[in-house]
Amino acid sequence: MLQVVNLSIGFDKPLIEDINIVVNKPMLIQVMGPNGAGKTTFLKTLAGLLKPIKGSVYINGVDVTGDAEKAGRFVTLSPQMVLFKQSEVFPISVWEFVEFGTELCHKKKGVVVSKDELRNIVKSALSSVGIGGELWGKSLWKLSGGQRQRVFIARAIACDMPIVLLDEPLSSIDPEGRVEIANVIGSLSKTKIVFATCHDPEMLLKYTSFVMLLGKGKYVMEKPENVLRGDVLRKFYGDAVIEFVDHIHVCDYHI
Ligand SMILES: Nc1ncnc2c1ncn2[C@@H]1O[C@H](COP(=O)(O)OP(=O)(O)O)[C@@H](O)[C@H]1O
Ligand SMILES: [Mg+2]
Repeated sequence: MLQVVNLSIGFDKPLIEDINIVVNKPMLIQVMGPNGAGKTTFLKTLAGLLKPIKGSVYINGVDVTGDAEKAGRFVTLSPQMVLFKQSEVFPISVWEFVEFGTELCHKKKGVVVSKDELRNIVKSALSSVGIGGELWGKSLWKLSGGQRQRVFIARAIACDMPIVLLDEPLSSIDPEGRVEIANVIGSLSKTKIVFATCHDPEMLLKYTSFVMLLGKGKYVMEKPENVLRGDVLRKFYGDAVIEFVDHIHVCDYHI
């Protein structure tokens, strides 16, 4: 169970203030908001990678606020791909990346897995996101953006943590691949609490229990039908929302 209490996120000044949410069963929550609203900051704060300005994050009753070590026993984060700089990365193959991450996650949870089990977990996670054996030995950094995104999702699946944070998981994936990955995320959310930041809420809509909309210092978290409406979106996206007869348009994102 995830409990967020009076949480204000940000750096020098708060980006979003007084977030209070309780998520007590597996589900998919889509996190939306304009660029710079604080979506990535929010996920990183949940993962303990950033200290909040105020408030607390509890997972299964454990205070994990600003503590990546403690949060890492429950949470896995797949980062936003565009935030990677090629110059900052170390050489690692696709297989090693998922295997290493999986081993570490299991260690953090205190679960012992044999080499054989580990191999099977990694294999099945990579296969489930459509990364075939021909790519397993390839450098992670020589993959296309979409392939790398899939590998990160595979690592999140293989880690088998109760909370999965996916930062823009569909952003660099081609349109057909997007449907496939959306389905993977949908099935993951049957057994995990999944937060996914997205610009196109439609892709994941049928799996989505709640939409969390961030912007201008505020947030709402409601069922999709109560948030994906012109009047609500306009409060967060301002003039970027255009309403047509049969659909709503946010900047270049269709809703
Ligand atoms: N390490 C940091 N130090 C200071 N400001 C930051 C840092 N990281 C992000 N920001 C700022 O915080 C705001 C929110 O960023 P972010 O959470 O990445 O937004 P989003 O993911 O919604 O696009 C932006 O204005 C960004 O420039
Ligand atoms: Mg972001």
